[in-house]
Amino acid sequence: MCGIVGITGKNDNAVAVLINGLEKLEYRGYDSAGIFVTDSQGQANLVKVKGRIADLKDKLTPDIKGNTGIGHTRWATHGVPSENNAHPHYSENGRFFLVHNGVIGNFKELKDKYLADVKFVSETDTEVVVQLVEHFSNEGLTTKEAFKKTLSVIDASSSYAFLLMDKNEPGTLYAAKSKSPLLIAVGPDFNGVCSDAMAMLKETHDFIELTDGDVVVLTASSIDIEDKDGNHVDRKPFHVDQDASASEKGAYEHYMLKEIDEQPAVMRKIASAYLNEDGSINIDDALLKAMNQSDRLYIVAAGTSYHAGLVGHELFEKLAHIPTEVHVASEFGYNMPLLSEKPFFIFLSQSGETADSRQVLVQVNELNYPSLTITNVANSTLSREADYTLLLHAGPEIAVASTKAYTAQIAVEAVLAKRLGEIKGIKEAAQFDIKADLTTVANAMQTMVDEKHDIEALAKQNLNTTRNAFYIGRAIDYDTAIEAALKLKEVSYVQTEGFASGELKHGTIALIEEGTPVIAIITDPKTAAHTRSNVQEVIARGANVIIITSESLAQPGDQIVLPDVNPLLTPLVSIVPAQLLAYYTSKQRGYDVDKPRNLAKSVTVE
Ligand code: M6R
Repeated sequence: MCGIVGITGKNDNAVAVLINGLEKLEYRGYDSAGIFVTDSQGQANLVKVKGRIADLKDKLTPDIKGNTGIGHTRWATHGVPSENNAHPHYSENGRFFLVHNGVIGNFKELKDKYLADVKFVSETDTEVVVQLVEHFSNEGLTTKEAFKKTLSVIDASSSYAFLLMDKNEPGTLYAAKSKSPLLIAVGPDFNGVCSDAMAMLKETHDFIELTDGDVVVLTASSIDIEDKDGNHVDRKPFHVDQDASASEKGAYEHYMLKEIDEQPAVMRKIASAYLNEDGSINIDDALLKAMNQSDRLYIVAAGTSYHAGLVGHELFEKLAHIPTEVHVASEFGYNMPLLSEKPFFIFLSQSGETADSRQVLVQVNELNYPSLTITNVANSTLSREADYTLLLHAGPEIAVASTKAYTAQIAVEAVLAKRLGEIKGIKEAAQFDIKADLTTVANAMQTMVDEKHDIEALAKQNLNTTRNAFYIGRAIDYDTAIEAALKLKEVSYVQTEGFASGELKHGTIALIEEGTPVIAIITDPKTAAHTRSNVQEVIARGANVIIITSESLAQPGDQIVLPDVNPLLTPLVSIVPAQLLAYYTSKQRGYDVDKPRNLAKSVTVE
């Protein structure tokens, strides 16, 4: 949450670099933004707004320029979205400027202990940090020493990625990180810092990963990294082989629709990444061995990734015969269940940066249990810190509502489960033709995507004005119902529940009234008849029902009919119309589809 970017260079283009970087980081938070820039003569400018990067751009004038600067796009934690609470924050004497991603756990204690006489202008935890730098520098410390002393009094519950500037040292950036992600962008005649490589891909493809406890001093021509033990370290850059245009919208009005449309191609990409010509599977033997030696898989994730884990549960149990549990990361970390003798942990995360999941991984590493991260972002924190990584190959996902990463997670889980089962000689795995099945899925997804205008019309007829709605299903369709409900609620603000259809009659059916939309997902042959009965029960109470079903289970009057695919993979297809219903409902209501209120794409606070 929150995106930070900084540059120190030789040209007066810092404003353009910061604005471009912030636009790329806006997915991380978008309630307010700001930049601070200095030029080689020491002229400094601070510009902040409540609102989006577009609003920040409107406030810039041609005289605001420089070769060094820091920028921030915010997702509010402490203090409402406002100009005063927007970053960069500055110290009382106007010398130090700071942007921050994370949360300072002991900010109140620090304020009381060191800063009782300081006049604060914001309600943020961040301002305490920049005031502390001034406080310690007033004791005669250099900026670096004051920065390090400030870091030393921040407690372990905190998370931060900081970028600091001292007006007396134009051309120098100070950075530090603990738990929140931060990369150095390495250029020929500049250096930068950013929360995500995407922010600086226009400038460079070479980045250095920072690790927790690092303190960095950057100029246009030097990078000095001190690790947590105070050693000066030389870290080799890695190359990001991604075109800056991969994160562009192209002709699409919204990223969400572009990303929904990309799903058939992502299925093909996963097949070519993990499957050989002859259909054999290409996954690290050491990972397969570690998983097959375990007696229980623990899938840990948040939000949509958690829902992909629910489908993974079916796949690992049915294809690999390994008992599997799925846990919400924010619950698991502080209330760990009794673990089996040989647990193996799977972290599912599009971003690879989710703080709730990371705090579990830290504990898992302390306990020395083996782990795998399945993520879309190579070199992300969860990827670096787990023993193994499998990539989603979905391409950058920018819309806050996760779509293609969800289906990619399920597809990668299916490939992995198939291979695990195959090694163990399990019949169901041997019969599961993942290569052919993924092709069929890609084609079925394409059929759904091609029918988007019918779904747009359904959204208009049924969801345009409703205040609440239900998705129902059983078995694997229940997993999809929960994800479908999250999609609809997060982008259209329709209060939506995903429900086990058989459970409705145990209480929730009381909420059904004349016209309540109930969307039933029916792709599981074993439970189809039961769900059909539940549909009759809600119709009898006035519900306005939409049925999403597979071709082989379809009945006259069903609104959305999906091409048949392998029953274990139906969630990959049945979710597509639900994603489209969410997209069109949000669009028809005039909401900001890609940046729904109160949310951010990468949730780096607990
Ligand atoms: O990056 P992650 O997959 O770890 O993110 C977890 C959730 O925050 C995320 O899936 C969220 O629920 C989606 N953006 C919702 O569409």
